Amino acid sequence: MRVLSGIQPSGRLHIGNFFGAMRPQLGLQAEHDCFYFIADYHALTSNPDPADVAQHVLDVATDYIALGLDVQKTVFWRQSDVPEVTELTWLLSCITPMGLLQRCTSYKDKVALGLSPNHGLFAYPVLQAADILIYNSDLVPVGADQKQHIEVTRDIAIRFNNNYGEILTLPRPYIIESVAVVPGLDGQKMSKSYGNTIEIFEPEDSIEKKIMKIVTDSTPLEEPKDPESCNVFALLKLVASADELAEWENKYRNGGTGYGEAKERLAELMIDYFKPFRQKRAELEGNIDYVKEVLAQGAERARAVAAETLAGARKAVGLGA
Ligand code: ADP
Ligand code: TRP
Repeated sequence: MRVLSGIQPSGRLHIGNFFGAMRPQLGLQAEHDCFYFIADYHALTSNPDPADVAQHVLDVATDYIALGLDVQKTVFWRQSDVPEVTELTWLLSCITPMGLLQRCTSYKDKVALGLSPNHGLFAYPVLQAADILIYNSDLVPVGADQKQHIEVTRDIAIRFNNNYGEILTLPRPYIIESVAVVPGLDGQKMSKSYGNTIEIFEPEDSIEKKIMKIVTDSTPLEEPKDPESCNVFALLKLVASADELAEWENKYRNGGTGYGEAKERLAELMIDYFKPFRQKRAELEGNIDYVKEVLAQGAERARAVAAETLAGARKAVGLGA
């Protein structure tokens, strides 16, 4: 089964990204033929500082490799190293009804958040469709917010195949719902846009300081507390063993334990959880040429597949001799 997903290179990744997206993606590697890429063409839709674009790609690539991307097995590359995908985007654009894109909620959400309403941002579901279709992907693991784009991809593929013959493989979404939304320091969803994140690889003392600042209610130390509505407990669930979690649940319900104690233990567990990855990341940072080499080799493997699909699609629409 060909599994494909794209990751936006928008800076350092946080623990919400890890538990909500990366860990499940990395978990699919053993059993499937995974194609994961860093979506730098997509990043341009928000007009980032050019100096940041390449740096963010390398940051995200280093994070993924440190966190367990299997560089031998998984194909891992930078989207823009396979420019064939932009040509397929054009072929698909020409059969994509405006209405299909006008119904996409992510464009409206992003404009509401203050992003410039440029054509790239509006049309990016077509680029995403090309990303998926050019690699003959069967399964696309994404968060629930991206489900609509996989449906758009299927619609576009069906239209293309109806017009030109069975060229494109229809993908299925694989919605990652195994983990609840990871809360940020203020209790809202952890997100770069809210400035409430804990980055996976920020310095350990900074992780600890942030955890000590997580918002909790003002139940006094001696009184019982509700674990299910507590942000600290939600994060403990991600890193504590089942036995330890059960102990914390009892401590919450019985009263007599303060949030401060829970936070201190959470900081310890969170730091321990990422320690081996942190060490690996430090090694990679000292050898960034290796990271670049992984991406270059990935691009070569990806490009071979992309070139073949594109050649079939060009021929089908009547381009070339
Ligand atoms: P951000 O909200 O920080 O901009 P993205 O939207 O780039 O993060 O998310 C990248 C991936 O990480 C998506 O698949 C998304 O579902 C997942 N993700 C992001 N934040 C969280 C969170 N707080 N809890 C669970 N998953 C998350
Ligand atoms: N649009 C996705 C996001 O914002 C990233 C992405 C780009 C993607 N191309 C993709 C995801 C193809 C899955 C498949 O997170």
